[in-house]
Amino acid sequence: MTADPIQELEFKDRMLSLGLARVSEAAAIAAAHLVGHGDEKQADQAAVDAMRKQLDLLDIKGTVVIGEGERDEAPMLYIGEEVGSGEGPEVDIALDPLEGTTLTAKAMPNAMTVIAMGPRGSMLHAPDVYMWKVAIGPGYPEGVVDLDMDPAEAVRALAKSKGCPPRDITVCILERPRHAEIIDKVRATGAAIHLITDGDVAGVIHCAASDHTGIDMYMGAGGAPEGVLAAAALKCMGGQFQGRLWFRNHEEKERAHRAGITDLGKKYVLGDLVTADVIFAATGVTDGSILKGARRHGAYLETETLLMRSKSGSVRRITYRQKNQ
Ligand code: FBP
Repeated sequence: MTADPIQELEFKDRMLSLGLARVSEAAAIAAAHLVGHGDEKQADQAAVDAMRKQLDLLDIKGTVVIGEGERDEAPMLYIGEEVGSGEGPEVDIALDPLEGTTLTAKAMPNAMTVIAMGPRGSMLHAPDVYMWKVAIGPGYPEGVVDLDMDPAEAVRALAKSKGCPPRDITVCILERPRHAEIIDKVRATGAAIHLITDGDVAGVIHCAASDHTGIDMYMGAGGAPEGVLAAAALKCMGGQFQGRLWFRNHEEKERAHRAGITDLGKKYVLGDLVTADVIFAATGVTDGSILKGARRHGAYLETETLLMRSKSGSVRRITYRQKNQ
């Protein structure tokens, strides 16, 4: 009799989670050597190589569902690639070996490596297109903000629920021309805006640690794969997330069809993007609001990893030190 992969993952996911932390650490250490060197591609490649190598040491039959791109455009960690030793539970893997390639190249804050793992079929196979997103942290009634609300209405609804005036709300938004209208509407409510130049997985995670980051809500369009990774993080930390794919041309719609998506206008809630319990790990590459970046201490290199399991709600921060090579 073959084992049920979901049960098998539940049985082993504690140990697997530590393995997953090593995978994200390895990618961060590789990218850390390239922080501030102005070469996005080289930094990304270093993280990809390290992540791929470390993943193969895990006893899993893994399939990459969110990865570096489609098979013909990414030689490694492409969507559909099989990873792991081939022994163990059948799992799906969503990853971004370097979330914030430009942040890394320019030594700017909040670059990190990200990976999530769940039972087969547990995460949406999001195509590499944009996704409109809205996210808030835990503790609010379900549906208090909605992707279809006008941004000003969403700020006011959140403020009312938090019991504060709109000016005490802070919204995180990627600084892009496409967000000019959202920015104007949010500012008109009196709310503060925390603009980021890149890295919207971190942007969303910030909402789930608002006491620490001061950020209450994330809004705007970023990568759809990053949307699934962010949803996996919120599944562990609590919070709400909604997203809708945004297609700018026919080729992008074709990408969605190839990923098996039929309803192109669907509004996804967190439970549609991540349908079962997952493990999530992220390691800081550059210093950020939720993770310290990889840093040298004398002869050592030190990393900080956030490791979370949605089933137990456990959150670990792991400091790892290795001899600087
Ligand atoms: P990379 O690390 O692949 O460069 O992505 C960074 C990022 O800022 C993501 O966090 C975000 O989802 C996406 O790019 C936004 O895309 P764009 O730069 O095209 O607006």
